[in-house]
Amino acid sequence: MVRVVHTIAELHKILSPLWRKGDPVGFVPTMGALHDGHVSLMKQAKADGNALVVASVFVNPLQFGSGEDYDEYPRDLNGDVKVARDAHADVVFAPSVAEMYPRGFLTYVDQDKLTDKLCGAHRPGHFRGVLTVVLKLFNVVRPAHAYFGQKDYQQAVVIQRMATDLNLDVKLHVMPIIREPDGLAMSSRNVYLGSKHRQEALVLHQALSRANELVAAGERNARKLAGEIRKIIGQSKSAKVDYISVVHPETLEDLNDISGKSVIAVAARFGKTRLIDNVIVE
Ligand code: PAF
Repeated sequence: MVRVVHTIAELHKILSPLWRKGDPVGFVPTMGALHDGHVSLMKQAKADGNALVVASVFVNPLQFGSGEDYDEYPRDLNGDVKVARDAHADVVFAPSVAEMYPRGFLTYVDQDKLTDKLCGAHRPGHFRGVLTVVLKLFNVVRPAHAYFGQKDYQQAVVIQRMATDLNLDVKLHVMPIIREPDGLAMSSRNVYLGSKHRQEALVLHQALSRANELVAAGERNARKLAGEIRKIIGQSKSAKVDYISVVHPETLEDLNDISGKSVIAVAARFGKTRLIDNVIVE
């Protein structure tokens, strides 16, 4: 059975006995439109022995820029509750915008450097919105463990930085990307793709897989890898690349050469749909 609550007060009624006993709460923050990527996070939270698993479903207006897809973002709370129940989550916390940002709200979390790169460079203010809502959700849920997907690699890094910098008492777990059978990384935004763009979007995974193979075969030059990725993504007529970057896994600084663990990250638009994907290479 999964309980669905909409207010912080209701959630606290459920959680306070656990907090008092010191029982660990596992937390999966989401914006809903749940898919198997989210399911893997909830199942991991359960498998890790958390006494209770909370999944939040909140489409956070703060992390969408003007002209982005806040209004169109898929919303299906009933469907999400079923997915969460089947993934053995115990509580779905689905607050309203007014519950999270009551009148008079004026406080935000900003982070230097890490948030200017990759998606941050293309979506000004996005990570300010993400960090603000995640810190609020952490304060509301007080989880011992929180679970994020590697697909949003930069998001995981900036949240880890915030947790370290602000001494948050939560352990972050970053779980592998879950893919469709044909390789497309699962994303709530995939529902926007028509069949043509859905097919063309496969170039992202194909390009990253090729880069991974090249690294395994000894290629170390980031420019050459990016060139190969660009060539493969270019096979899609619609793809408009935002970035192809080879970066340090923690600082997210661009690398010239791969000499240790590195992340190859891409973002591209197919029609109106912006997709991201990445691969971690050694
Ligand atoms: O990854 C997401 O779905 C969102 O960015 C998050 C972490 C739930 C914050 O709104």
